[in-house]
Amino acid sequence: MNSPDFLQLHQIDDRALAAEAAAGLLAASAQVSPKFFYDPLGSRLFDAITETAEYYPTRTEAAILARHGGAIAQAALEAAGPSPALVDLGAGNCAKAARLFGSFAPRHYVAVDISVEFLRQSLQCLQREFPSMRMTGIGLDFSSRLALPEGVVAGPAVVFYPGSSIGNFDPAQAQRLLVQTREAAAGGALLIGVDLVKPVEVLEAAYDDALGITAAFNLNLLNHLNRLLGADFRLREWQHLAVYDEAHARIEMHLEARRSLTVNWSGAQRRYAAGERIHTENSYKWTVAGFEALLRSAGFARVRHWCDDAGWFGVFLASG
Ligand code: AVJ
Repeated sequence: MNSPDFLQLHQIDDRALAAEAAAGLLAASAQVSPKFFYDPLGSRLFDAITETAEYYPTRTEAAILARHGGAIAQAALEAAGPSPALVDLGAGNCAKAARLFGSFAPRHYVAVDISVEFLRQSLQCLQREFPSMRMTGIGLDFSSRLALPEGVVAGPAVVFYPGSSIGNFDPAQAQRLLVQTREAAAGGALLIGVDLVKPVEVLEAAYDDALGITAAFNLNLLNHLNRLLGADFRLREWQHLAVYDEAHARIEMHLEARRSLTVNWSGAQRRYAAGERIHTENSYKWTVAGFEALLRSAGFARVRHWCDDAGWFGVFLASG
């Protein structure tokens, strides 16, 4: 039996993170990166969101991959050659990629996430199920730049980027990341899940579910900042907001102050007027034609896609 290799390429620096969050809180229009959602509770709340009735992306993507998995694998292997390396961006518990193992038969599975610690258990467990597959876990913050170290992946790869995580990037940033995925695929292919433009009521409900799980997920960011900064946010003084901005084709999540209030943390404070907001996330939605054009502008020559019947979500395969 093989055993997984682990590489931590990214130093998680709490002081730098605290400085970044503080700068965002102090900005004229306050904003905090969505990466601050994902403390241990935030990650569990995100998993719960994916099980709500309103949040369709996760289950719709899974249904597309289940229904068209054979055709998708065939097209991907045509581009990348048989038994390619499979590079999984934001792998987490590795469950989505593991569902591709049967049809893709990767010779090498490369799981990338911000912390290699998230990957240790999942990879060790997967390795027992697939004893002869080479497995590598890489701790890397690819949101700033995706660059795999020389020699880790030999030959063409299929880069798998599911979940519409690309939606957190504005179009210019998304294009840059897609160029980097094309380079990482080294002549192989990119398999990416993308949430599509649809009626505003459906979008806003998906980001403001009736159980209040997305509201808890958004508010929990303040708990995370309280710990990271030693701040004194009181969660009851803030309200979750999710609004679709048609002009930018994006869901925006905000936390809105219910009254005028002051937040203090080590050596700093900020007053927020009643109704003032902290912008916590953008989630861009694409049309099929728009995302195909984005892939081509990132240098991919061949693009195919598969959708659900309602056209709510797209799985794109880009190569060349
Ligand atoms: C992880 C970026 C795909 O934008 O739908 C879900 C995160 N935020 N509900 C998304 C999220 C609120 C999610 N992504």
